[in-house]
Amino acid sequence: MVSHPDQPQIGLLFSETGVTADIERSQRYGALLAIEQLNRQGGVAGLPIQALARDPGGDPDRYRLYADEFIRNHGIRLLVGCYMSHTRKAVMPVVERTDALLCYPTPYEGFEYSPNIIYGGPAPNQNSAPLAAYLIRHYGERVVFIGSDYIYPRESNHVMRHLYRQHGGTVLEEIYIPLYPSDEDLARAVDLIVKAQADVVFSTVVGTGTAELYRAIARRYGDAPRPRIASLTTSEAEIAKMGSEVAEGHVVVAPYFSSIDTPASREFVRACNAFFPEDVSITAWTEAAYCQTLMLGRAMQAAQGWRVEQVQPELYRQRLDAPQGPIWVEQQNNHSHLTSRIAEIDSRGTFQVRWQSPEPIRPDPYVVVHNLDDWSASMGEGSHR
Ligand code: ACM
Repeated sequence: MVSHPDQPQIGLLFSETGVTADIERSQRYGALLAIEQLNRQGGVAGLPIQALARDPGGDPDRYRLYADEFIRNHGIRLLVGCYMSHTRKAVMPVVERTDALLCYPTPYEGFEYSPNIIYGGPAPNQNSAPLAAYLIRHYGERVVFIGSDYIYPRESNHVMRHLYRQHGGTVLEEIYIPLYPSDEDLARAVDLIVKAQADVVFSTVVGTGTAELYRAIARRYGDAPRPRIASLTTSEAEIAKMGSEVAEGHVVVAPYFSSIDTPASREFVRACNAFFPEDVSITAWTEAAYCQTLMLGRAMQAAQGWRVEQVQPELYRQRLDAPQGPIWVEQQNNHSHLTSRIAEIDSRGTFQVRWQSPEPIRPDPYVVVHNLDDWSASMGEGSHR
């Protein structure tokens, strides 16, 4: 039988080391900022929320073990964490067996539902569908896919292939490289990209390999025009590693960019800058971790407690005026209503938003709005900034 702690606690599962350390640190500090703000507002039932953090080092087995440790040894059943999809899949049976709750602040491939996971990042209908419409409209119909070799890239490519085909587009190559690519892996991949003469490269490469791939492509093309790289995950953290000359011109779809010039976003960036270590970037997935943790804490405050069965119903009642705009959880599928933005990276390495959805998009993780025409039509309506 699982016990409960006698004070409010949240377990954080974000890697401090390993292939995705940069992006997961950006998420971890987002969650910690939310907890700091919640505690400044009095915590829960007069007690400060404690954060317990572990470093799973990007290894799915360690995510599972630490989730189990939080729950069995500490009675903590409110968790925030995971980036790569196979780490979420490793934690899923643990939270399901123990009726715990994992808040997952990361974009992923869709086609999943767990009653014990709240999905805080976009599903394909909130990122891939508008991105495909944008890329075809602005850059052309010939695309090469390149991804890290695990479930998220493979499944995301499956969806993207469908979206491109539906619009008469052509997928010229589908390339996978290891999570830690060697120079030879990168050279082979870039050879295929050059040969294919694609209009666009759709990259689902994650972690440290991202900057390595973008750099390898920039080096190979030199001063010649190079294809745009479009991504669902590349963030301020990866751009900081590759440099703005390499990043310039590439495209990302996400709910949030730290460059968004709204009062809520400026306030968030100010709070992050005051709280984060110098080397931690403010990314879309910082914002997702911040928002999910804030909503979780507010649900605990509303419930005046921290038992999952008290907190989860309150979570569905939360509506947050987030840095990206309003967000809320869809109780039917545990995914989040999110705004979608498409940005191009300028010569300073800053995301310039080119399109945004007129309103938050309802999450549709299973059916996936495969109808590209819907999005092509709305591309004219979204605000261009
Ligand atoms: C991911 O693996 N969901 C980025």
